[in-house]
Amino acid sequence: MRMVHRRIIWSAMALVPAIGIVSAAQGEGASSALDPAAPGAAQYAAHCAACHGATLDGFDHAPPLRGLGFMSGWAGEKQRKLYSRIISTMPANDPGSLEPADVLAITQLVLRMNNVATAPAASASDLDERLIVIP
Ligand code: HEC
Repeated sequence: MRMVHRRIIWSAMALVPAIGIVSAAQGEGASSALDPAAPGAAQYAAHCAACHGATLDGFDHAPPLRGLGFMSGWAGEKQRKLYSRIISTMPANDPGSLEPADVLAITQLVLRMNNVATAPAASASDLDERLIVIP
């Protein structure tokens, strides 16, 4: 009886690393890298990545800024609303500290990382009539 038990425990342990590898591979597949040269990427890296993750996938500190969970909260809203949310509440540890131009660039980066169309904008009011449409 004892032997059987041990064998079950050992085979369960042998599975653990395999499961780790599978989920790591899935994680990589789900997130595409952020092009550091993309407009807004430098500002995102400086002000947002520490909490929301380098690829916008979130982690312990803050929720993801991409993917279905994020998009389901924003679909149908004006792009300006996302801008306003960011400029008035983020970074969470220092809200209101960012320049409007930087927030505009970051907002459009977040949209593009979710495959939402957003043409270059000169100011936040350009986002007034643009909707967040799930591609
Ligand atoms: C100090 C950590 C921290 C930093 C830095 C930070 N955030 Fe956040 N963010 C949070 C937390 C925590 C939440 C969830 C609580 C809340 O909604 O306020 C959040 C929520 C959000 C949301 C709402 C998410 C949703 O599902 O609707 C957006 C959008 C957002 N952050 C964007 C940004 C952007 C863009 C930056 C960079 C300018 C940034 N955040 C920087 C911690 C942070």
